This record gives sequence, structure tokens and C-alpha cells, in this order.
Amino acid sequence: MGGASLLRLAAVLAAGMVVTVAEAAVPPPLPVLPIPNAAQLAWQRREVIMFFHFGMNTFTDSEVGTGAEHPSTFAPSALNATQWMDAAVAAGASLAILVAKHHDGFCLWPSAYTAHSVRASPWHGGASDLVREFTDAAHSRGIDAGLYLSPWDRHDERYGREVEYNEYYLAQLHELLTGYGRVSEIWFDGAQGKNVTKMTYHFQEWFQTVRQLQGAINIFSDAGPDVRWVGDEQGSAGPTCWSTVNRSSITIGDAGIEEYLNAGDPRGTDWVPPECDVSIRPGWFWHRNETAKPLSQLLKIYYNSVGRNCVLLLNAPPNTTGLVEDADIARLREFRAALTRIFGTDLAKGSAARASSERGVGFGAGNVLDGSDDTYWAPTPEDGRRNGYWIELRRPAASVRPFNVVRIQEHVALGQRVERHQVFVDGVAVATGTTVGHKRLHRLARPVAGRTVKVWLAARRGVPLVSAVGLHLDPYATDVM
Ligand SMILES: *[C@@H]1O[C@H](CO)[C@@H](O)[C@H](O)[C@H]1NC(C)=O
Ligand SMILES: *[C@@H]1O[C@H](CO)[C@@H](O)[C@H](O)[C@H]1NC(C)=O
Ligand SMILES: *[C@@H]1O[C@H](CO)[C@@H](O)[C@H](O)[C@H]1NC(C)=O
Ligand SMILES: *[C@@H]1O[C@H](CO)[C@@H](O)[C@H](O)[C@H]1NC(C)=O
Ligand SMILES: *[C@@H]1O[C@H](CO)[C@@H](O)[C@H](O)[C@H]1NC(C)=O
Repeated sequence: MGGASLLRLAAVLAAGMVVTVAEAAVPPPLPVLPIPNAAQLAWQRREVIMFFHFGMNTFTDSEVGTGAEHPSTFAPSALNATQWMDAAVAAGASLAILVAKHHDGFCLWPSAYTAHSVRASPWHGGASDLVREFTDAAHSRGIDAGLYLSPWDRHDERYGREVEYNEYYLAQLHELLTGYGRVSEIWFDGAQGKNVTKMTYHFQEWFQTVRQLQGAINIFSDAGPDVRWVGDEQGSAGPTCWSTVNRSSITIGDAGIEEYLNAGDPRGTDWVPPECDVSIRPGWFWHRNETAKPLSQLLKIYYNSVGRNCVLLLNAPPNTTGLVEDADIARLREFRAALTRIFGTDLAKGSAARASSERGVGFGAGNVLDGSDDTYWAPTPEDGRRNGYWIELRRPAASVRPFNVVRIQEHVALGQRVERHQVFVDGVAVATGTTVGHKRLHRLARPVAGRTVKVWLAARRGVPLVSAVGLHLDPYATDVM
């Protein structure tokens, strides 16, 4: 309360009026550092985002080009970036990332700094710009755009000459981050061939330039600074997955960092949550002989990524016509429909919630049922010391429908805390785990129809802050009718 309002209150009291004092709100607990910034929090809540690998490799039927491809090879006959967004919409993705230059060095926009680009291709007589078509198509569908610019470049002759190549790379970052409106994510791939001239990438100059040009962007690399690689290309985080790491422990592109990236570091001093990149087909680029993964596999990927505190980056590769295959779009639509069917109904709805303790007004156990990530149950610090913290849902007798998925969400805005947890249904343990984070999904062995669901939690530091506990029925699980 400021000095002026104190004075006003004093004046009212002096005048002899009756003052009704409302119950003071209980402030939230202190955060446990590190915590996400606003752009990282917004990114985490996207859950599913899209990747589009398209370029020279699409036409040469390869995954990694040599850099010796002639620009005339790039010749999509009926490219339609708006149709690509049908894939993103089908998947329910709010962000779409385009590979603007892959390792072969061919640029999908008419860069002023090289002749090796769409400008030299037969596509629209060299008059088109795919980064423009892509970002325009995304924005007009209400989808945010992201870009990938490969550091490894097998075409450009400056590659290997450190200053010259870093200058070239920075000039291209400038083109991409100033010419196409808002860019929400930039992807720095750590991949590099074994037989290349050793050269240092000036990551600090790149990262700071990106920040200067796009303030709210998320920067992806093995080591962030905003979003880290999960350590594999199968779309699977570790069963223990911390959003925290020590950035100083990670050398971008190094072999042997995968395990650390996969699990994170409970003592990590930097908030750098993982992104799980995986293609819906076997390859990143389109190949005539390949088809999309079955729904069951996409769902497994979802449980192992989004269900383990990650964002899922799904790749859908357009074909040589310049279109995403209808069958792939249909598969993505099937995937989203399945997620809606599973998670669209919360079987915890209508339950009564109670907990080991409550911090006070605004932090009640019922907050885990209100559907909001911004409200949460907070216990008092004392109760955890003896028996741990717990929250229990008692479902109404009339509607005890079976469920086989338990969803637990932490309020990560104040830091990731839970290091161990267990789920009991009518007193029987049905699931055990370590970290929770933004979202933890447990797929149970079989559906259960219990009356009470209790989640027991141990926090590494501070008290656990739980924003949601949900119960769902996944009819796609193999042993479910
Ligand atoms: C491009 O794709 C969109 C979305 O599928 C479609 O509405 C539009 O007609 C297509 N444009 C052309 C020229 O085919
Ligand atoms: C590696 O580079 C050397 C020298 O440029 C070349 O002779 C050799 O063929 C390359 N090996 C591979 C596997 O690309
Ligand atoms: C990360 O940094 C913290 C704080 O300095 C330290 O306690 C922890 O051991 C580090 N983790 C690793 C894997 O070195
Ligand atoms: C399809 O063809 C590509 C290129 O010829 C090859 O690299 C890939 O392994 C093939 N995929 C399958 C699933 O056989
Ligand atoms: C690419 O996909 C579109 C949409 O399914 C299809 O019409 C077209 O024939 C495909 N092109 C190739 C080369 O398979």
C-alpha cells in the first residue's frame, strides 16, 4: 500500500466511518530458480509443433546432400505452402518451422550472399521465395513461423574459413530475421560431417544477433539458450526429464552429450527445456518408398514427449510436387482426433479434492481441477517433512468410469520441483515416476475404475505446486476395448 492510500485510510478513520477490511490474500511461495522466461513458458504450452524438411534432398532422394547439386535440380511442379499449413492445422500445431537451408547449402530464399538458391532454380523461373511463401502462409492461418538454418554447409566455399563463413552465416541470419515478420523459433542444428575442415562457429555472436533482431524468439540448439535438443531423433525424452541443465556442461555438436540432454540436470542452473524432434515418416525428407508412421506409434511418441515434460516437433516432408501427401495429412488429422478423444474428457471432473495441507486462500486442492495452468494447489512447507505431500481426488459415486491415463501437471512458472511421485487408486499403487514438469502422463497397464485417486509427491526443493490432476480413458491402448 502506497503512502497516499495510507493517508486516505487515515482520513476515513478520522471521519469516524466504518471500514470493512477484506481478508488479505496469501502471496504465492517463492520461486525455485531457475524459472522459465515468458517466451519459454508460451513455447511449453504449445505442446505439438511442426517441422517441414524440403529442399534439394527431396529431388535427389537423399537425406544429406553433397553440396554439388545443380540448382536446376530443385523443381517442384505445383508447390503450395498454404497446403502445407493444412498439415499443421490437422496436427493442431501453433508453430511451423521450415528448413530454409540444409547441409547441402541450397537456400530456399533468394539470399543476396550466394548464387546457390531458388533464384537459380527453374521454380517460377527463379522469381519465387519459399521462406516468404511459407511465412505468409503460416501467418495467414494464424500459425507462428520458425526457421532452421544449417550451420554445416557442404556447398559454400567459405566453409572452413572461420571469419568469412561466420560473417556469411550472420548475414543470412539477418536476412531471415528481418525480412519475414515475426519469427518465433530459430533452429541451430549441431550436425556436422566427420570429414570436415575444423572450424569454430561463433555461437555467442549468432545468439546475440538473433535476440537483437527478434526479441521474443526461442533459440534452439543442443545447449539452448532457450530450448535444448532432447538427445535423440525418435521423439522420446527420458522417464526422468528436468527442464534444467548447466549450459556450460554442453558443447554443441559433441558426441556423448545425449544422455545429459535426455534427462536434464536436477541441479542445473539454466532453464533450457527439451524439444523432441521426430519425423512422421522414416526419413526427414520425402522418399517415394516411405509412408507415415501408424497412429499407435505417433501416440506412443506423444506420451514419451509431451507426456514427459517436452514439446513435440513433428516433421511432415512435402513431396517433389511441393505438397504434403494427402495420406500424411490424414494421419496427422487422425492423430489430433485421437488426442481430442483421449484428453477432451476429464474423468476427474466433479471430484472432491483434498490434500495433505493447503497454503491458504487461492491455493486450495480444488485448483487442480479447474482446467487452468495458472492456478495450482500449494501445501504448507511443514507437512512434507514426515509423510510427504499428497493430493487426493474423490470421484462422485454415480460416475466412477474407468480410466487408464493419469495426467499430472506442475506449475513450472515457479520452477520444476517434483523429483518422485506415486499414484494410488483406492489405496493400490498404479504408477510410479520421478519428474513431472509441465505435464506428466502415465498410461496404466489396464483401465481402473476406482473411487479415490491419490498422488503422493516428493519435491527436490521447496514444496510441490500442482496445477492439474486429470484422469482419461485412452481407447487406443492395445489392451483396452
Ligand atoms: C493451395 O492450398 C490451399 C489449402 O489446401 C487451397 O485452398 C488452395 O486452393 C491451393 N491453391 C492452389 C493454387 O492450388
Ligand atoms: C575426406 O576428405 C578427403 C580430403 O578432402 C577426401 O580425399 C576423402 O575422400 C574424404 N572422405 C570421405 C569419406 O568423404
Ligand atoms: C550443475 O551446476 C550445479 C551448480 O553449480 C552443480 O551443483 C552440479 O553438479 C552441476 N551439474 C553437473 C552435471 O556438473
Ligand atoms: C527409401 O529410399 C531412400 C533413398 O533411396 C533410402 O535411403 C531409404 O532407406 C528407403 N527407405 C526405406 C524405408 O526403405
Ligand atoms: C504429392 O502429394 C500430392 C498430395 O497428395 C499428390 O497429389 C501428388 O501426386 C504427390 N506427388 C508425388 C510425386 O507423389
